[in-house]
Amino acid sequence: MTEVSASILTVEKDNATQMFYDLEVAKINYFHIDVMDGKFVERDTTSTMKDYALTISHISNLGLDVHLMVENVEEFMDEYLMLEPEILTFHIEATKTEERTKNIIEQIKDNGTRVGISISPDTDLEKIKPYLSQIHMVLVMTVVPGKGGQKLIPETLDKVRELKNYIDENGLDIDIEVDGGINKETAELAKEAGANILVAGNYLITAENLKEAVQSLK
Ligand code: DX5
Ligand code: ZN
Repeated sequence: MTEVSASILTVEKDNATQMFYDLEVAKINYFHIDVMDGKFVERDTTSTMKDYALTISHISNLGLDVHLMVENVEEFMDEYLMLEPEILTFHIEATKTEERTKNIIEQIKDNGTRVGISISPDTDLEKIKPYLSQIHMVLVMTVVPGKGGQKLIPETLDKVRELKNYIDENGLDIDIEVDGGINKETAELAKEAGANILVAGNYLITAENLKEAVQSLK
């Protein structure tokens, strides 16, 4: 079954609450929270995303799918674990050492939260293989992290395919999430490649009919 995680990165403050309601009514599965620290990526969305995540946790029962694009993973992990998200994802490019990566995985798990590791387009799949048996999800970035509304990089779907094969061959039980440039057409390709959770920002937020847009991804 395919699940849809709505990226609220480009939602305007003025109509944010209404948009969150509309997304839930349109049957998304998660709210995708893009936390950017101005260091790991250029933009800084820390205060807006904190606001949005708090609002959502007050008005919705849907799970938060938190995507940390930050250097100081520990700091933001602590901050977001307090909101009891469904999934907390950090970037393998940010943690660098094996000891640190394992520590973060353990801390997220201790909180009863599902652990995701994200991998940017230029990073080799080998980098995350040692952790696959310990995590719940891999977030394959299908664009360079940093902003919404970009075009999906086709080569990233080869990575999804390779990952899916590796997961199946090793009898692992891990979700594959894709993020960036997902629309009706690219969703089809991503699912074919092996993804089962699709993040969509621009495609949903600008849709005329949200229900149909969510349905078209599933
Ligand atoms: C990019 C973010 C994505 C992005 C998705 O750095 O991680 O979640 O906002 O937006 P679209 O679907 O517009 O590419
Ligand atoms: Zn994201």
